[in-house]
Amino acid sequence: MDGIMARKIVITSGKGGVGKTTVTANLGAALASRGFRVALMDVDIGLNNLDVAMGIENKVVYDIVDVVENRCRPKQALIQDEVYSTLYTMPSSHSYDKTSVTGLSIKNLTDRLAQSFDYVLLDCPAGIELGFHRAVSAADEAIVVTTPHIASIRDADKVFSLLSTYDVIPLGIVVNRARGDLIASGDMLSIENVEELLKKHVIGVIPENDDISFGNAMGRTLYGVRECFALLAENVYTGSRKLLDCTQPYRGFFGTIRRNIKKRV
Ligand SMILES: Nc1ncnc2c1ncn2[C@@H]1O[C@H](COP(=O)(O)OP(=O)(O)OP(=O)(O)O)[C@@H](O)[C@H]1O
Ligand SMILES: [Mg+2]
Repeated sequence: MDGIMARKIVITSGKGGVGKTTVTANLGAALASRGFRVALMDVDIGLNNLDVAMGIENKVVYDIVDVVENRCRPKQALIQDEVYSTLYTMPSSHSYDKTSVTGLSIKNLTDRLAQSFDYVLLDCPAGIELGFHRAVSAADEAIVVTTPHIASIRDADKVFSLLSTYDVIPLGIVVNRARGDLIASGDMLSIENVEELLKKHVIGVIPENDDISFGNAMGRTLYGVRECFALLAENVYTGSRKLLDCTQPYRGFFGTIRRNIKKRV
């Protein structure tokens, strides 16, 4: 314990399956690659996804429920990343009666980890029930993930309203699964459209990428993916708002050709 206090950021969304776990894993890796000490917490109790996304599911001995119920110390449950030595994951349990883990116990654990890390990222479960409450009440700041689709944006709007009833600062939106070709052709909402609809800033744009399976690659080998998470990390770290322009390859003469080729394949 050396007196530092981590930033505690929850990664949440309205709609499920939009990329919270993916963003948590990769934002964590991007922050750790800058030398920050990062703890990722899987608060999706009963549905372990983050350990799978991090490729560490075979290393899990103790999980977050063991820690909360004092069967082990936090340090015993944390799993160090193979690539980034300052990146650790607190895995969730595979099966458990969820009701015995309270928001307060997650908050206490988060505060304890915050004394030894620079960032604690909380991977929020889908929905806005108890699991949401547990994750959000432990954080000081929130990132809302959405896809550029109306249903997801509508749910993100509801989540921003709900977040305003908590003591958290909304850092902004991450737009996941953006398709530069569709945005350029006007078939998908642009980043500006998303900002107008939600009246919040976009702090990250992650393109749709079929190779985004992080268990294998963690986005580390994929230039475009790594770059957009590096920008997101920079925005979180410095408060800037630098975004990847995913429409760039699809503009102009050759861009139109590329767009048409993509449409046909
Ligand atoms: N940018 C992307 N391009 C392609 N596939 C993606 C992208 N982002 C996420 N996915 C895939 O979409 C699926 C859902 O992502 P993820 O598990 O991160 O969502 P989630 O919001 O955490 O879901 P849940 O609400 O169930 O916790 C995963 O299979 C993931 O690999
Ligand atoms: Mg998830």
